[in-house]
Amino acid sequence: MFLIYGLGIFISLFGVSKAVNMPSTEKSWTYTLESVKMDTANKDTAYGNMRIDRIERGEFGLSGNLTLLIDVTPDMEVEVLLYRSTDSGANYKIQPYSLPRQGVFDAINNFYKDMIMPSAVNCSNLPQFEDKLTELPAQKFHFEKCQVSTDRFPQHMPEGFNKIVFQTYGAIDLSAEIVVQIENKSF
Ligand SMILES: *[C@@H]1O[C@H](CO)[C@@H](O)[C@H](O)[C@H]1NC(C)=O
Ligand SMILES: *[C@@H]1O[C@H](CO)[C@@H](O)[C@H](O)[C@H]1NC(C)=O
Repeated sequence: MFLIYGLGIFISLFGVSKAVNMPSTEKSWTYTLESVKMDTANKDTAYGNMRIDRIERGEFGLSGNLTLLIDVTPDMEVEVLLYRSTDSGANYKIQPYSLPRQGVFDAINNFYKDMIMPSAVNCSNLPQFEDKLTELPAQKFHFEKCQVSTDRFPQHMPEGFNKIVFQTYGAIDLSAEIVVQIENKSF
């Protein structure tokens, strides 16, 4: 679920609320997944990888595996930071949008549940739940060609590279990074 948090931040960073039911109007922009990576500091607690998979021309999805060798415990924490670059990734500036460092189950029961869970349903075995998740035992997650629907994104977005950095703290020390380029469509 971790990397998909990152995409969720990307969705929420422009303040798109889940309460706003935006009509899927024609977007003035397109996005490209530039690069992704995932790593863990201690392979005795968790390990995984992810990659960009081509679906069809111009369409890409995220695929990967994440193996948790220990249970996720409430003392673990999660943080997501967003950086933006207007010079093709040479220099990045941190943006005021982020998921502040917080308990992992708070993040799962709010952010993940609202923003990520619905789009993960058909492409992964990431948790699907009603009400609240209070336990996440050691297990293997896999996701294949997961795509982010742009339906809930604004019609206009600023051009540039966006880097989403996801970090967990605690016994599982996982970091993931997703770089997404936004370009205006040429009419
Ligand atoms: C995930 O693991 C499966 C089975 O081991 C493998 O076939 C697949 O290529 C892996 N996915 C990635 C993105 O490495
Ligand atoms: C998942 O699959 C079901 C059944 O095919 C479909 O009704 C639903 O719209 C799909 N959801 C997403 C987010 O793709």
